[in-house]
Amino acid sequence: MSIERTEEETVAFTVEDGIAWVRFNRPEKRNSMSPKLNRQMMRVLDALEFRDDVAVLVLTGEGTAWSAGMDLQEYFRDTEALGLAGTRGAQRESYGWWRRLRWYQKPTIAMVNGWCFGGGYGPLFACDLAFAADEAQFGLSEINWGILPGGGATKVAVELLSFRRAMYHAMMGETIDGRTAAEWGLVNESLPLADLKARVTAVAQVLAKKNPVALKATKDAVRRVGVMTYDEAEDYLIRAQEAANSYDNEGRKEGIRQFIDDKSYKPGLGAYDK
Ligand code: ACO
Repeated sequence: MSIERTEEETVAFTVEDGIAWVRFNRPEKRNSMSPKLNRQMMRVLDALEFRDDVAVLVLTGEGTAWSAGMDLQEYFRDTEALGLAGTRGAQRESYGWWRRLRWYQKPTIAMVNGWCFGGGYGPLFACDLAFAADEAQFGLSEINWGILPGGGATKVAVELLSFRRAMYHAMMGETIDGRTAAEWGLVNESLPLADLKARVTAVAQVLAKKNPVALKATKDAVRRVGVMTYDEAEDYLIRAQEAANSYDNEGRKEGIRQFIDDKSYKPGLGAYDK
């Protein structure tokens, strides 16, 4: 289908009740990531990151796809025609917003409503949590058209899947549905498409009630410690908590106060009242 979208139109978003719903918005191209979309996504992430009315960011897709990976025409063929500078420029733009998302200030959730291929694994892994429709289809289809799973996709497979599953997934180029993706650990959960938004909303609402400084420190810690020795991790976590304290002297004291003095909540069972 030949719909000409402006750069701005390639990403849509709304902010409702503390949740930023960001949508890949090229449904006619199955939300494949073009250079225009990659540039616009970085702008949208920039615009939302420090807004006081945004507690959680959800990344989802318009139409039947979450994202069918990189746009084979606009991301590969068109930029390759510009030579190495074109290729490297396009890579910087896509990898750039995925990296930004990996270390985003706010908690992030991938709501995978449909197709998720190849390059889509970059933003999938960048999101802290991921929920998929049972009907969604995931695949490392690179092998099917003659390249390796680049742009971090191989790394994502190895981070999230067992060695045998990662190897099979990358070499066979078969799709797996949402349920299998959950069973394999590619996403947290899978549920019928009709129930997906309600579940993601409920998770986002829980996150929105947590101490935001502690959330950022926690999500970074989970990503960082995997490559550290135990002693390095122990030291990193001490420093990270001390750094978080300097941004949030009152929050955690309030959390302790409400438990010890007021006895108004139990930290084991939920968050204190901000
Ligand atoms: N790049 C460019 N265009 C795409 C892409 C893509 N990744 N995916 C879909 N489109 C376009 C199609 O060319 C088609 O365009 P047209 O209407 O102008 O002909 C339109 O989107 C609709 O695609 P269909 O194939 O007709 O949609 P359908 O729902 O039948 O199939 C599916 C969806 C399975 C996602 C299929 O489009 C597909 O296989 N896409 C490619 C998936 C892929 O391998 N992506 C690359 C991964 S590797 C990487 O990202 C590095």
